[in-house]
Amino acid sequence: MGDRKFFVGGNWKMNGVKTDIDGIVQFMNAGPLSENTEVVVSPPAIYLDYARQKLDSKIGVAAQNCYKAEKGAFTGDISPKMILDCGCKWVILGHSERRNVFGENDQLIGEKTKHALESGLKVIACIGEKLEEREAGQTMDVVCRQTKALLDNIADDKWGNVVLAYEPVWAIGTGKTATPEQAQEVHDELRKWLSGNKSADVAKNVRIIYGGSVNAANCKDLAGKPDIDGFLVGGASLKPDFVKIVNAKE
Ligand code: 13P
Repeated sequence: MGDRKFFVGGNWKMNGVKTDIDGIVQFMNAGPLSENTEVVVSPPAIYLDYARQKLDSKIGVAAQNCYKAEKGAFTGDISPKMILDCGCKWVILGHSERRNVFGENDQLIGEKTKHALESGLKVIACIGEKLEEREAGQTMDVVCRQTKALLDNIADDKWGNVVLAYEPVWAIGTGKTATPEQAQEVHDELRKWLSGNKSADVAKNVRIIYGGSVNAANCKDLAGKPDIDGFLVGGASLKPDFVKIVNAKE
């Protein structure tokens, strides 16, 4: 097994105004957060600067999305350069809500990943199947197709700046978590696919985290699986229990 530091991300999605963020900052800075976990939280774009200034420097900050250009006539969007300028080092790309609510496709997500990495950002790249795809036995077809679009855009020397987040769409915000066995199975198969389609080295070292209704009650069982290297947490990252999820490995 590679030397994969446990990684827990908190995706706030479109939640929180300054007073809410102040509350989250309070419990995050109070922790205590395990030294063995890399922690990154992801506020709405308009609050990246605000959250970065208030959070302890050992907590990373990620944007929830960005565009594939440094600047220009792209009304409403933000660039990796701007994210970095606010002191943030990460971006989430390809989240299922970007794919399914805003219609982003594999190609665009691949291009964004390439530009973000070349700009110096680290990327949490999300993949995952819908319920009907799982029920049709297409889970790995979908996950591998989405990963292939990323792989073609990640230079060999940038893999260390990528975390893959497996988030089955049917488990997001539904309270219906994948079982540890279901998540482990996909992570294991994805690692094997990466070994065959990229390299044994990338397959061994890239962190694959799980997202979808992770909470304080189910995180320890999930964290016990050998190929689950952490979590991307939505709803539960807005509450003090998030600290327990960060410390799931302890
Ligand atoms: P929930 O934890 O609310 O299911 O959201 C998961 C997610 O989409 C994280 O990116």
